[in-house]
Amino acid sequence: MSIFRGVVGRSLVRSMKGLSGSKLPMIAGHKLLYTCNLRCKMCPFWRRPDEELLSIEEEVKMMNALAGAGVSFMGFEGGEPLLRKDIAEILEESSKRFHTSMVTNGWLLAGKVREIEDYLNFAFVSLDGVGELHDRLRGISGSFQKAIEGIRSARGRIPMAISSTITRENMQQAPDLVNLASDLGVSINFQIAYDYSTADPLSPDRAKLKETIEFLKYQKLAGRPIVNSVEYFDAILNSWYGGEGWHCKPWLTINIDPLGRIVQPCYIINEYSGKSKVWEIDIRELWNSYDWESYETCNKCALSCYLEPSLFSWHNPSMVRERILDNVVSYITGQIG
Ligand SMILES: C[S@@+](CC[C@H](N)C(=O)[O-])C[C@H]1O[C@@H](n2cnc3c(N)ncnc32)[C@H](O)[C@@H]1O
Ligand code: SF4
Ligand code: SF4
Repeated sequence: MSIFRGVVGRSLVRSMKGLSGSKLPMIAGHKLLYTCNLRCKMCPFWRRPDEELLSIEEEVKMMNALAGAGVSFMGFEGGEPLLRKDIAEILEESSKRFHTSMVTNGWLLAGKVREIEDYLNFAFVSLDGVGELHDRLRGISGSFQKAIEGIRSARGRIPMAISSTITRENMQQAPDLVNLASDLGVSINFQIAYDYSTADPLSPDRAKLKETIEFLKYQKLAGRPIVNSVEYFDAILNSWYGGEGWHCKPWLTINIDPLGRIVQPCYIINEYSGKSKVWEIDIRELWNSYDWESYETCNKCALSCYLEPSLFSWHNPSMVRERILDNVVSYITGQIG
């Protein structure tokens, strides 16, 4: 199952534009709000007050500006995106323009599936441990059970995966989480926790993390349902343990805060602090005047939303097959199915 299903034609064109040397975002990530019903230890976002939220008209204005700049993939998150009362309307507008995905903690998913299923190409439900460990990390008891209920109600209706954040407290459960995904009939994506200044510092000890990354790489090679590419695990191993870094391309992803402001250069460096509103500036001009080069060797985080797009290469046949050709097939199948 691939998160890139659906907008193959436009993406190919966009990627080819990238080859010409001009930098433009291909993927957008938008926090619809900071408010959340959970209290995850490693997360800074629920701790931020929401001043105000964009109206549906402003969301549409934002989407039009992004589509105009060539964005093809839109991912909604937060805070908890399902707390937005107008979530179905927002997703519907997005689905008219982009391959649309959402990350949710799953608590409200079972009750919302029928309202939103037609507008999502992909959904991620966050799970950081099995049972009590998930509840402890997420700060609210019952959150594991609710996430599982959400996955059970949405699987088969929306293509989906578990999203798991590896911290120092759950590293040892990576094998259990892969098994859980497999038992539930969904795939699983891993990313490594980053220590935001306003959250509990739970990022894993790097020496101990190595074994988990190697384990996940071999699980992926063995055909377990892991979304991350082999190259994702290799990039971490080569950079953090081998001294041979990857070239980060944060310009491929444009992040937008709940007020519609652009977060640059990436989610991490400025801890999700936005500046200009998307529809009030010329994205192309901003993108091509920004000093992206100074971040190319950063390698500070391994957030999959930045690392995976940074690794794409036309010279890697298996990657081209997995990310492009398989999607052409699923796209065509989707059109005639
Ligand atoms: C911020 S949440 C927003 C969406 C939704 N509330 C959820 O939890 O899925 C998006 C993802 O960020 C992850 N996350 C939270 N804190 C993080 C951190 N310190 N480093 C990396 N990822 C983190 C969460 O586990 C979740 O999968
Ligand atoms: S559920 Fe998501 S937004 Fe809410 S506190 Fe946890 S990681 Fe943060
Ligand atoms: S590696 Fe550095 S530049 Fe790239 S996304 Fe992470 S923090 Fe940003």
